[in-house]
Amino acid sequence: MDKNNGSKEESGIQSVLHEERVFSPPPESSSRSPRWLINSKEEYERLYEESISDPATFYGRIASELSWFTPWKTVLEQKSAGSVLDTEWFVGGTLNLCYNGADRHVEAGFGDDTALVWESEPLNEDGSPEVRTLTYRDLQEQSARLGAALKDLGVQKGEIVTIYMGMVPELAISLLACARIGAAHSVIFGGFSAQAIADRIEDAQSRVVITADGLFRRGKIVPLKEKVDEAIDTLGASSVEHVISLTRCKNATAHQKRDHDYHSLLERFQDTPCPCEPLGAEEMSFLLYTSGSTGKPKGIQHSVGGYLVHAYLTAKYVFNLIPDSGQTFWCTADIGWITGHTYILYGILPNRVPTLLYEGAPDFPEKDRLWDIIERHQVTQFYTAPTAIRAFMKWGDEFPKRRDLSSLQVIGSVGEPINPEAWIWYYETIGAGKCPLVDTYWQTETGGHVITPLPGVTPTKPGSCAHPFFGIDAAVVDRTGREVAPNEGGLLVIRKPWPGMLRGVYGDRKRFLETYWSTVTIDGEPVYTAGDGARKDDDGYFWIMGRIDDVINVSGHRLGTMEIESALVSHSAVVEAAVVGMPHEVKGTGITAFVTLSPQEAERTGNLEALRDKIREHIAKEIGSIAKPDSIRFTDALPKTRSGKIMRRLLRDIASGKEEIAQDTSTLEDFSVLADLKEQDSS
Ligand code: PRX
Repeated sequence: MDKNNGSKEESGIQSVLHEERVFSPPPESSSRSPRWLINSKEEYERLYEESISDPATFYGRIASELSWFTPWKTVLEQKSAGSVLDTEWFVGGTLNLCYNGADRHVEAGFGDDTALVWESEPLNEDGSPEVRTLTYRDLQEQSARLGAALKDLGVQKGEIVTIYMGMVPELAISLLACARIGAAHSVIFGGFSAQAIADRIEDAQSRVVITADGLFRRGKIVPLKEKVDEAIDTLGASSVEHVISLTRCKNATAHQKRDHDYHSLLERFQDTPCPCEPLGAEEMSFLLYTSGSTGKPKGIQHSVGGYLVHAYLTAKYVFNLIPDSGQTFWCTADIGWITGHTYILYGILPNRVPTLLYEGAPDFPEKDRLWDIIERHQVTQFYTAPTAIRAFMKWGDEFPKRRDLSSLQVIGSVGEPINPEAWIWYYETIGAGKCPLVDTYWQTETGGHVITPLPGVTPTKPGSCAHPFFGIDAAVVDRTGREVAPNEGGLLVIRKPWPGMLRGVYGDRKRFLETYWSTVTIDGEPVYTAGDGARKDDDGYFWIMGRIDDVINVSGHRLGTMEIESALVSHSAVVEAAVVGMPHEVKGTGITAFVTLSPQEAERTGNLEALRDKIREHIAKEIGSIAKPDSIRFTDALPKTRSGKIMRRLLRDIASGKEEIAQDTSTLEDFSVLADLKEQDSS
């Protein structure tokens, strides 16, 4: 790895190198799980070996556990032996995501079983939440109604429907309805701004948007449809012809000609048949926009067949899902992120284990809300993010201690590296030292887990995501593609195709190739480059060291520094901006913005604090609250190379409060800038 890129990464290694604790999975006799699906090292090794050397047999067997309308002819077709890029999976097969999650269980006699349990954020007068339980039949019927309504609005197979809602059952139904009729969905997280919605709708050219009048967050209403209207009417999302809006918060908005009320619309399609559309395995299932290092967000494109097989397989073995064993699975992510797509819906439903959906904030009305939910619903698998875990730690042990968490069998972490301290707290305080903790490494692009422990078999080390999952040939290499020595940092790559891999960046083949397939070549073939730095220890455990591109991971959400910078300079007071990550107690990484003000603004030596607030608000409006800088530092100039490139690595050191700049500064154009920056007023 480029040494110059390394300050953050190197410190990542340092902090984990000292971590030598190893936790063995509880043996079956003492485990809270009915049994471990994989319970011996030999079995795990045999399956891993088969998945790598004979993927056709391995994945063919797994895929047969799902329902296909037409069987596949070949499990995988590589462009040439050894190539990874553009591999096609389950060629010739047809299937449907919604069918596999709902209809097939109904047809097999499980129609009345619980598929999804939903709990509202607001509480009734008696202090209890609203709880709705949806069976597989409910999912089938409601997705069919909405599917029929979408078709009636002219939605065609392959077209992209944008969804912007809070965490309500209708959100799940909306995804399933799209899947049912073969439309691709593009879900936008409810925290994004009108501008972010407009950019995504424009890229996807959606004609139909499904939204709601608002969502509940910490007792307040966050408007949603208003933002959709703004995106369409003033920000250029002009492809939209229909907006379907769910009434959730009684937050009425101006009625437009293009509007349809969600429930009234569905009522009209009570009896319209809407069977699941057979889709080619390689057709597009959905787009999910993610930040890149440059320019606008990328629409990560997933397939139907390969994605489903990977989602189903990883969910089953990583969380040890066993139908009819009384399990309830809960992933706290929002459906607007890949974690929600794969591990609230598409991976869990086909495994026929109920999935829990919670509408609101973890500290509403009190900081024990999540533990209360686990106790009341007897949750068996709990999957959350390190940023949340650090917040729970900060709030104190008294909150989880109030509740009985003994139903838990497996606990999981995702989204960013989990620091050993948070790992231990989670393992002991939430898992009572009795639940395997699976630290799952993956990305929007990988569709599902790629490096992770398996609960019944992998001894875990706090801070390490352990070993590659079945079928994943992950390695840590240098830029020439050679594996680096144990404990040496390098680039994380995947050298063989896997079914859940992204199929493209929507409408931008060049960006797809440049971002993922042009950094490392092995034997003349490009391999998948994840954009993360990693090292493998002496026991072959992987330790993720963080992003190597200009992307920062805040609370488990990737944000492109470029995107934040362009939003900053769109503020009238700002002429230039550079954004870097800095250590943050709860979020893991926080955002520091170095900002140069326009001469007029700089002259007005007014209230800098008020200006910071205004700039923060501006970012919230342009991108969303998650991108608000934690610290804004005003500066007369930014450190640049002679060729004019901003030297972000220096800024990173300054942002993280390093006294001495340990970096190579030989290419710095003007040294005084550095000294000035260190002295600048910051907040
Ligand atoms: O940097 C890695 C980090 O999150 C990135 C993927 O972000 P996103 O596509 O938004 O998906 C998040 C949920 C899958 C990765 O490139 N990351 C994710 N999980 C881990 C992680 N870093 C370390 N350990 C993890 N378990």
